[in-house]
Amino acid sequence: MNIDFTINGTKASVDVPAEMPLLWVVRDELGLKGTKYGCGKALCGACTLHVDGEAVRSCSFPVSAAAGKTVTTLEGLSPSEEKLHPIQQAWIDEQVPQCGYCQPGFMMAAAKLIKDIPNPTDEDIRSNISNICRCGTHPRIIKAIRRAAELQRISATL
Ligand code: FES
Ligand code: FES
Repeated sequence: MNIDFTINGTKASVDVPAEMPLLWVVRDELGLKGTKYGCGKALCGACTLHVDGEAVRSCSFPVSAAAGKTVTTLEGLSPSEEKLHPIQQAWIDEQVPQCGYCQPGFMMAAAKLIKDIPNPTDEDIRSNISNICRCGTHPRIIKAIRRAAELQRISATL
């Protein structure tokens, strides 16, 4: 069965079982390796991407639920090749990653957060982002999200 959707601005059509997790499709069928497999049970957040602007845990999201929708992965987060998304810039500025494995999921969850809450408090960040980092980068992630929110506010005024 063919399932059609848009991913990072490009049309995709995949012939896979309807119940296949979107993560499998993104990584193995479409070759986009930025989105990571962690727990496979919607617990860790490593596989977070956006479907129609909502952050979803793609290890537990059937590809059929993405039919006709717009999927964005970390590879498609920046608005253009020349311009980083505020989350990407802040992650660089704050030197967030350690091993890096969990970071794409955190970045996608964080991008959704600052879209919904343009000036989040530390409590907003803690209560809205339940992703797990085994390297313990959470303090830098909180700093980076606040920085990204500031960058986003600045660019909105330009
Ligand atoms: S791999 Fe999807 S939440 Fe852990
Ligand atoms: S940076 Fe290593 S798991 Fe988060």
